[in-house]
Amino acid sequence: MLLRDGLVVGAKGHLFIGGCDAVELANEYGTPLYVMDEIYLRGMCKAFISAMKRCAPEGMVFYASKAFLCTAMCKIIRGEGMGLDVVSGGELYTALKAGFPMDRVTFHGNCKTQGEIRMAVEVGVGRVVVDNHSEIPFLQEIAQSLDKRVNVLIRLNPGISVDSHEAVRTGAADSKFGLGIDDGEALIAVKMIAGCANLSLTGVHTHIGSQIFDMAPYKKAVDRLTDFMTLASVVTGAELHELVIGGGFGVRYTREDPPTMDPEEVVMTIARETERQAARKGMRVPRLILEPGRIIVAEAGVMLYTVGSIKEIAGVRTYVGVDGGMADNPRVELYGAKYEALLANRAGEKAAGTYAVAGRSCETDVLGYDFKLPPPKVGDILAVPTAGAYQYAMASNYNRVPVPAVVMAHYGKSGLIVARQRYEDIAQYDRVPSWL
Ligand code: LLP
Repeated sequence: MLLRDGLVVGAKGHLFIGGCDAVELANEYGTPLYVMDEIYLRGMCKAFISAMKRCAPEGMVFYASKAFLCTAMCKIIRGEGMGLDVVSGGELYTALKAGFPMDRVTFHGNCKTQGEIRMAVEVGVGRVVVDNHSEIPFLQEIAQSLDKRVNVLIRLNPGISVDSHEAVRTGAADSKFGLGIDDGEALIAVKMIAGCANLSLTGVHTHIGSQIFDMAPYKKAVDRLTDFMTLASVVTGAELHELVIGGGFGVRYTREDPPTMDPEEVVMTIARETERQAARKGMRVPRLILEPGRIIVAEAGVMLYTVGSIKEIAGVRTYVGVDGGMADNPRVELYGAKYEALLANRAGEKAAGTYAVAGRSCETDVLGYDFKLPPPKVGDILAVPTAGAYQYAMASNYNRVPVPAVVMAHYGKSGLIVARQRYEDIAQYDRVPSWL
């Protein structure tokens, strides 16, 4: 089984997460339940920050909040000295309410609404990443009307294809994200921004995809982006000094996956390549910014379900039904994601067979067909590790099922960081027009 630091088999053969007995957590908070291990999560943040301090002292690490965001998470990210990448008014609102310093927020999006742009400028986010030509005049108009200067980065499409699921490849030429370098679209944006009195172009951005295990495409991105920076500096007469290489660093979900990328190696490789390319091109070494999301939170999270049904189809397979599924984790259906699992209340027992774990929604909704488990019984607690990224964040109310709670575990203490939805919460937005 894929266990990691802080995820151990302890007393009574129970699984322990962040020092907390998973069975007790399930009893206390109910299931399905997302559990986050604070020490593991902070450890990942510290690894990125300390590597950045060593390899690129001017550099910054902005957590990609789309992977998992709530108020407590903002507090942790702030405490660890990181910034935040937000991509919607809702993420920005959460950061604002949590008292996150706005100068450490970057606002992204390929189709930001005018309301969101206004909000971002009003609250004074540190950087806005321009994704297309259409948003530039509006951004300028808002900044002028509010008498503000806005730091702007251009999202570049470097035309780099990576080896990951097609839904999470974002840097190839045919992508809805970013402005093309080769077709001249990015340079047009540079000129447009240079003509806007309230916008300052500080640098360039790219994000080539997600769940990447190879450093070569990142090095290529540094090469392509620094080339563009020298060109843009000549065109505008002002030096661009910020280089954002995005996130995408791969995480191990099953034994078949390569090991989770090492933050130290990631930061060092990108920082060294930035220095090397800057020296080659006779430019000042730009400030490096990275935006890790998944790698910060994925392995900190464990999902707990209660086994509610067992159905054996003779000669075919045995389905183990659990009280969650695609509503709390759509990644299997969307990307064919693979997971491993164990029984939290019998974590010391050896696997004795292969089981399909079925979700509870009214669809095929299977978490996987080949989980190796001891024979499961109704009432067992099924734990699915590596559940911290893009699961709570992508949860839905499909079948009007409440979104599960999220609990933080910390040296044997636990506390809610997101309360479980109630049926009333789901129904509260229903309205009945007068003619019904
Ligand atoms: N920066 C930008 C601009 C991004 O769009 C993303 C992710 C990141 C950083 C962080 O990437 P990460 O380090 O988390 O790979 N829902 C999908 C993943 C979508 C990623 C979207 N963008 C999944 O569950 O696999």
